[in-house]
Amino acid sequence: MSALRTLAFLALIAGVSSSKTSDCSYVSLLTHLNLTETNDVLEIMRPVKNWTTPTLVQVDMVLFGILKVDEKSQTVTSHIGLQMRWTNEFLTWNPSDFCGINVLSIPRSRLWIPDVEIIEDSSDTGSISRSPVVSLSPNGLVKANARQRLTSTCLLNVSMFPFDTQNCEITFSSMNSDAYTIQLGTVHSEALLNNISELSMVTKGEWELENMDIKYVNGIKVGGSQSKLLYTIRISRKPMLYVINLIVPLFYFLVLDLGSFFISEARGEKLSFKVTILLSISVLLLILKDILPSTEDNLPLIATYCVTIFAMVGLSVLEAMLVSYLYDLDGCCCNTAQSPVDEVDIQLEVDFHKEPPAAEETPEKSSRPLDRPSDGDLLKLILQEVKAAQQEVKRQDKDQREPGRYRRLANIIDRVFFTVYFLTITIFMTCMNTFWLTEQTN
Ligand SMILES: *[C@@H]1O[C@H](CO)[C@@H](O)[C@H](O)[C@H]1NC(C)=O
Ligand SMILES: *[C@@H]1O[C@H](CO)[C@@H](O)[C@H](O)[C@H]1NC(C)=O
Ligand SMILES: *[C@@H]1O[C@H](CO)[C@@H](O)[C@H](O)[C@H]1NC(C)=O
Ligand SMILES: *[C@@H]1O[C@H](CO)[C@@H](O)[C@H](O)[C@H]1NC(C)=O
Repeated sequence: MSALRTLAFLALIAGVSSSKTSDCSYVSLLTHLNLTETNDVLEIMRPVKNWTTPTLVQVDMVLFGILKVDEKSQTVTSHIGLQMRWTNEFLTWNPSDFCGINVLSIPRSRLWIPDVEIIEDSSDTGSISRSPVVSLSPNGLVKANARQRLTSTCLLNVSMFPFDTQNCEITFSSMNSDAYTIQLGTVHSEALLNNISELSMVTKGEWELENMDIKYVNGIKVGGSQSKLLYTIRISRKPMLYVINLIVPLFYFLVLDLGSFFISEARGEKLSFKVTILLSISVLLLILKDILPSTEDNLPLIATYCVTIFAMVGLSVLEAMLVSYLYDLDGCCCNTAQSPVDEVDIQLEVDFHKEPPAAEETPEKSSRPLDRPSDGDLLKLILQEVKAAQQEVKRQDKDQREPGRYRRLANIIDRVFFTVYFLTITIFMTCMNTFWLTEQTN
């Protein structure tokens, strides 16, 4: 009797264990879920038992890196990780029936996948890498992961370049289904997604992730269109490169131009120095042209900065030209006024020392002394040399002591211009600084 009972007990144990071993394979679970053969119904229809139930699709996005921000084409290239979750009401099981299997990987092609896409996506199709399988949980929760090199359009406001902060939106929305059939949401909170992004950001380039803001727009409330999930990414530029490359050199050129007012006018180097500065500024303007988009509606502040500096140096070159012209005018007037008198003077002296007939031969005197050197000629030559030297000394004295009226005018213009120029630069630089600093502290 007891032996029979033991046998029955053993048989029971064997039966249970055998049923358990058979249920521990994925095959039995797949059979239970009717997935062993191609099940078209699961592929083509939204998996809800009552069609009025909307499917909640939860999309979590994590930012892995900001690869490129192109101001010219107004696009932002980033590397993102996506996880989409939704519930399939037909694919549920009890894990205890199947040896505790609590996750099942199923090929993507076997199941209905929501057509949730990024609206701003302008990248080519090869840039998205989706996992070929989705994972299924006992309660019917489906998780699909993807990574994407996303090139999204973003309206970049470069008016404060290079101290700018950009807000770029990444909008998830179903392509076809309206808000009654697909609703969107996130699994994790905004703070946690921000933390994960902060930790997993590897490449940031010249950009710093400020924060990521998540907003849900319910399509039913907005007139029955598609629901939208908006990720607003706020990034700020690290301006150091542009400060070193553009702003400081331009300012330095301006200071050099101020300094060039102290170069002596007489040597004639001032003008060429100023023109060199102007050319250097135009080279820097070329760099700027490659960076900024050609939007006319709001001129970036840095363009104002460059163009104003260019215009100011250009004006100062013109002023230097005017001053040098006035100087030349003065020199030319002095010569025409003085030389006839002096020549007459010399002529008179020569006439006084020599006989009248010899005076007529003076034009040819240059060749004469070599042919027939005489005391009279020699004396005359020496006298001429002395006169010329005296005249030169006199002229130089006049140059230094009492400048002509054009020269005085030129000096006044120079001083007034320098003062105005200096004041303008000071005011201009103060204004630019205030604008940029307030923008940076914001
Ligand atoms: C699988 O298919 C059978 C018959 O077609 C059905 O009775 C059963 O409910 C299905 N199972 C599931 C999980 O859909
Ligand atoms: C389907 O859902 C609607 C609204 O929730 C409900 O009124 C209806 O009774 C449901 N139908 C079935 C068959 O459960
Ligand atoms: C760009 O930013 C500036 C200052 O931050 C603002 O005044 C301007 O209105 C913005 N332009 C656009 C088109 O948003
Ligand atoms: C995010 O990180 C901050 C500081 O690192 C921490 O205080 C906060 O609790 C984190 N938030 C979440 C949701 O983990």
